[in-house]
Amino acid sequence: MVTRVAVVGASGRLGSVACRVIEEQSDLRLAARLNSRSDLDEMLGADVVLDVTTPGVSSTVVDHAVRAGLDVVVGTSGWSEERLRLLRTLLAGHPDRGVIVVPNFSVGSVLATHFAQTAARFYESIEIIEAHHAAKVDSPSGTAVRTAELIGRARADIGPVVAPHVDQRARGQQVAGVPVHSLRLQGVVAQQEVMLGGDGEVLTIRHQTLSPSSYEQGILLALRAAAEHTGLTVGLDSLIGLGPGAE
Ligand SMILES: NC(=O)c1ccc[n+]([C@@H]2O[C@H](COP(=O)([O-])OP(=O)(O)OC[C@H]3O[C@@H](n4cnc5c(N)ncnc54)[C@H](OP(=O)(O)O)[C@@H]3O)[C@@H](O)[C@H]2O)c1
Repeated sequence: MVTRVAVVGASGRLGSVACRVIEEQSDLRLAARLNSRSDLDEMLGADVVLDVTTPGVSSTVVDHAVRAGLDVVVGTSGWSEERLRLLRTLLAGHPDRGVIVVPNFSVGSVLATHFAQTAARFYESIEIIEAHHAAKVDSPSGTAVRTAELIGRARADIGPVVAPHVDQRARGQQVAGVPVHSLRLQGVVAQQEVMLGGDGEVLTIRHQTLSPSSYEQGILLALRAAAEHTGLTVGLDSLIGLGPGAE
């Protein structure tokens, strides 16, 4: 069976990678390419919508797709817990539809977040440093937010991360009690370090994206999983057997 995919944000950096890799697959067909000048109804006729737009637009795209009876994979950043809560409410009224929100399509990055979540119970002192290309408009990155939230969740029964002096601006933004420091640098694609400080030691979990091609495997995994998932699924981790994800 061939799955027809509409890519919203097809002219963007991530959208271009997605379109190319979709066109290389025999079980996927690129049914529509949408950008900022498109009518969202151009997605109709697809089976799955891949949203890779901007944080300000993404909810409208997902809302439109779900109400039109389409499954969705979201790669766009900015899906906070509050936005996910509203999405769950929308999906409750469309029980046959599924939305998979993937803050990071890189399998290596998902593994790094998983390792950080596992290590979080053993260290009180944890901070995240993420760096992305200078054109990235939002900060902190979706991956950093997700990592911090999972660290917070891992420590729920033992107490929050101990982060002193966070009233000073240079101490980063607090996400689930974890200080997150965002760098926006020319020359960088994406990288993240989670530093966990303990008694006489520092554990650093570091992942670097060197090329956008690192997203291809995750994009394909999520698109192929979309038809089988109803409700909300968050993170590639659940699709590769690493976490609960499905809600
Ligand atoms: N999940 C992941 O692994 C991952 C990896 C990298 C990036 N991201 C995230 O993915 C998103 C896209 O990143 P990017 O670097 O590809 O951004 P980008 O190069 O700026 O591309 C944005 C795309 O969104 C389109 N767009 C803007 N407004 C729109 C609207 N109202 N309706 C339809 N399309 C609209 C743009 O169309 P025009 O060309 O017409 O402006 C463009 O195609 C960002 O949120 C980024 O943080 C996620």
